[in-house]
Amino acid sequence: MKLNSSWRSPSNIALIKYWGKYHPQIPANPSISFTLSECYTETSVSLLEKKANADYDLEVLLDGESREDFKPKITKFLEHIRSEIPFVQEYHLRIETHNSFPHSSGIASSASGMSALALCLLSLKEEIENTKIDDFYRKASEWARLGSGSASRSVYGGLAQWGQFAGISESSDEYAIPYQGKTDPVFKNFRDYVLLVETGSKKVSSTAGHGLMEKHPFAERRFLQAHENLAALQETLASGDLEKFGELVESEALTLHAMMMTSSPYFILMKPNTVHILEEVWAFRKETGLPLYFTLDAGANVHLLFPEAVEQAVAEFVSTSLTGYLKNSKYICDRVGDGPVKLS
Ligand code: PMV
Repeated sequence: MKLNSSWRSPSNIALIKYWGKYHPQIPANPSISFTLSECYTETSVSLLEKKANADYDLEVLLDGESREDFKPKITKFLEHIRSEIPFVQEYHLRIETHNSFPHSSGIASSASGMSALALCLLSLKEEIENTKIDDFYRKASEWARLGSGSASRSVYGGLAQWGQFAGISESSDEYAIPYQGKTDPVFKNFRDYVLLVETGSKKVSSTAGHGLMEKHPFAERRFLQAHENLAALQETLASGDLEKFGELVESEALTLHAMMMTSSPYFILMKPNTVHILEEVWAFRKETGLPLYFTLDAGANVHLLFPEAVEQAVAEFVSTSLTGYLKNSKYICDRVGDGPVKLS
C-alpha cells in the first residue's frame, strides 16, 4: 500500500478581517473571505519507513529543496492534532510542497499551505484507519485552523465564514463553514488582482500582530465592529449593492492597518506605493464610476476587488497606471475559486 496523499488548496482573501485570537487559535471576532483560484499550494504527504527515533521524524521540501525553517510551525501544528493522528509517529513523514505564487511574493502561504497539509493528513487518516470521516471538510477546516487561523476558510470554495456570529446560527470558532446566506450572482465571479508592492518576508509576523491585540486599547471596540460589519456585509452580499460592499471592505482593510499602527509597539506594513495605489483606485472610481475596490492583507500588497463585467477596464487601468508602483511590475490576476482539489 502506497501511503501518500496530495491536495491542492487555495489561498483566500478576507473581506471582514480576523485580527486577534485566544488560545488555541480561537478568533477574537468572526471573519469572512473569498477563496481564490490561481494562488494555491500543492502539498504531498508521504508516510515512509521511520529513520530517526524521534517523536516526529519529519522532512519538509519546498520545490524539492529541504526547508528546516518550516519545521517548527509544522511540528507545532502536528502537536495540536497529535491524539487524532497517532499513526504519524510510526513513520518518516515527508512533506513536499509547491506554491503557485513566488515564495517571497509577500502573499501569505500559510492559509493555502496549512489547509493543504490538513487535507492531506485527514485523507491519510481515512486511509490508514479505514474510516470515512463525517463532514470531511469541516474536520479539515478545524485542523487547518490550528495551523493558521485563516487556513480554516480555505477548505471551501466561494465565500467562507469563520468565527461565532449571531447572524449565522451554524457559525463556529472551531472551524469555518461555507457561507450559505443569500448571495447576489455578481459575487460569484468576482476578480481579485493581487498587486505585488513588496516582496520578501514581513517585518512583523501575523502571529506577533495577533498577539498585540491582547493589550490593544481599541481591541474590544474593534471586535464588536467586526460583528457589525459582518452583519452589514451580509445585506450587501444579498442585495448586490457594490458601493456599500466596497465601503465595508475598504474600511475593514484600513481598520486592520490602523490596529497595527495603534498597537504597542506600533508598526506599519503598508509602503508608500501601497498608499499611492489606494489613492489611484479612489481617483479611478471617481472618474469612471466603475465598481473597483481594494482590500489589504497583513502586508504591503493591494488586492483589487471588482466584478467580472468591468475586468477589461480594470486590466487597462492596472497596466497603464499601477504597474509603476509594483515590484518588477508584477501582479497576479486571480478570481473567486472553487476550493481545494484532491490530487491523488
Ligand atoms: O491566519 P493568520 O494567523 O496568518 O492571520 C491572518 C490575518 C489576516 O490575513 C490579516 C486576516 C484574515 O482574516 O485573513
